[in-house]
Amino acid sequence: MSEPPLDFRSDTLTKPTPGMRAAMAAADVGDDVFDEDPTVHRLQERLAALLGKEAAVLVPSGTMSNQIGVRLHCGPGDEFICEAGCHIYNYEQAAYAQLSGVAARTVEGHEAVLAVDQLRSLIRPDNEHLVRTRLVCLENTHNRGAGRIQPIETVEAIGQWAHENGLAMHLDGARLFNAVVATGIEPARWAASFDTVSVCFSKGLGAPVGSALAGSREAMKQARRHRKLFGGGMRQAGVLAAAALYALENHVARLAEDHARAARLGAAIRDIDGLTLRPDQIDTNIVIFEVDPALGNATEFCARLKAAGLLMLAVSPTRVRAVTHLDLDDNSVTRAAEILAQVAQQAATTPAAGGASYGW
Ligand SMILES: Cc1ncc(COP(=O)(O)O)c(C=O)c1O
Repeated sequence: MSEPPLDFRSDTLTKPTPGMRAAMAAADVGDDVFDEDPTVHRLQERLAALLGKEAAVLVPSGTMSNQIGVRLHCGPGDEFICEAGCHIYNYEQAAYAQLSGVAARTVEGHEAVLAVDQLRSLIRPDNEHLVRTRLVCLENTHNRGAGRIQPIETVEAIGQWAHENGLAMHLDGARLFNAVVATGIEPARWAASFDTVSVCFSKGLGAPVGSALAGSREAMKQARRHRKLFGGGMRQAGVLAAAALYALENHVARLAEDHARAARLGAAIRDIDGLTLRPDQIDTNIVIFEVDPALGNATEFCARLKAAGLLMLAVSPTRVRAVTHLDLDDNSVTRAAEILAQVAQQAATTPAAGGASYGW
């Protein structure tokens, strides 16, 4: 039987560990739409305490959590400011427009990092021709920015400026714990600049399902209404909350292993002709590299990798993403580096089969 492929496409691919499955099986549950699930309560209280917020609400996905966050701060005719490559803007079907009648204004960060000076002129004047600027959304770590950390000083400067000017702050912290582990800065300090914080348990933390939004008690009461409206009210959700609690206990500190492996993979890629890290710096668990056109496009390159037993994701016509996670180990990185080197060499000498169906 041939080996299963090494899967570096995403940190969402992890399967629950035996310990996590046992915790899920043992979970005490109730109906969470009635607000009677004790394990969901434990998770929400634990997360709120970790983030220094009054309350939290469990939701099925990071997309829903972000969209509830936007909906809490903005209504029809309002606008939020965000980094141009962020998930809310690029990968959520503009749900803020579809579901809430809200507009987005994008700003290109330097390697996905925003500076407060880029935002100062963007608050629209009170004028009936214009949308109302209401909210700033940040993403930390930044997915399309190759896991880049938006540094704490910039977060705090943007938060201070936003609040002084009457804007709310929402954090897409799908990978906030990667930033926590990489910097040693406590979750509550990262969260302090934001009115609402979304975190995902289903990315690097390895849970099968689940995200949560945290904020003030009043905002979370309202968030429960929006969650129901968006179809996210779940019944015996304690089985999912148990996985998330297990992840918070057991899978946060180990993110450092993913970061070390991403750094090792990045170092190997720097040595391969025809592949260039974009950006060169690797902060956490995501590596993005550019494929020289002489080796074919990114989709063709990924097809060659797949044939050699390595799965990575084309994220633009020229760029490929690799993500380290719980189900990959040191050997996976060693093997991935070997396959990348072999495939790059082969691609330099053999024309690609063709086909350019991009998927990003
Ligand atoms: C930064 C970021 N935010 C939000 C999401 C959405 O999460 P979900 O897939 O659970 O809706 C993702 C998913 O990959 C993400 O990377």
